[in-house]
Amino acid sequence: MTDTSATDHLTVVRHPLVQHKLTLMREKETSTAVFRQLLREISQLLAYEITREMELTTRRIETPVQPMDAPVLAGKKLALISILRAGNGLLDGVLELIPSARVGFVGLYRDEETLEPVQYYFKVPTELEDRLVIAVDPMLATGNSSVAAIDLLKQAGAKNIRFLCLLAAPEGVARMKEAHPDVPIVTASLDDSLNEKGYIVPGLGDAGDRMFGTK
Ligand code: URA
Repeated sequence: MTDTSATDHLTVVRHPLVQHKLTLMREKETSTAVFRQLLREISQLLAYEITREMELTTRRIETPVQPMDAPVLAGKKLALISILRAGNGLLDGVLELIPSARVGFVGLYRDEETLEPVQYYFKVPTELEDRLVIAVDPMLATGNSSVAAIDLLKQAGAKNIRFLCLLAAPEGVARMKEAHPDVPIVTASLDDSLNEKGYIVPGLGDAGDRMFGTK
């Protein structure tokens, strides 16, 4: 049995450690501290998957035994983009695995009248066009904010973008595929649906509230 299932656009990481940690995160009695720790651990396992295709080159080094042409990452440092605020929970874990990554932030809120996402913050690394750009947001629900964030990243020059989330709803995946078919998604679970309040079902509730202890 493989530990991932993938289409061109969506990869679900079915590794047993990912699935076990995700179950603990879903449970409503899980404390804020444990939720945060699990998110940190799971994000590293998801980051392993989403960086699988990164390009390598070689560098001449000397081991204690002999010289060799050893593999090293090619090109510019990758850019991690946190979609505020819940993205920061995924960001922390991924940064532990890739400490030299450059980091950016996209802040969006929903206009209560138009229901459209409105940008309130945007700060990203330079030369986005030459970097692998990984946008992180734990919950791909309706897809509205994810699509808007990717729009902004493309406007800023990003060409090679991937999207990392913990849970995805079929509605969000479809919306992203329609708007950004060139942006592959990696997630730990494709859940059943969205409810009338826009929560992923069965989901885990409000990811931001659960990681920051707010209500
Ligand atoms: N955002 C969340 O935090 N949870 C959901 O279920 C959907 C969107």
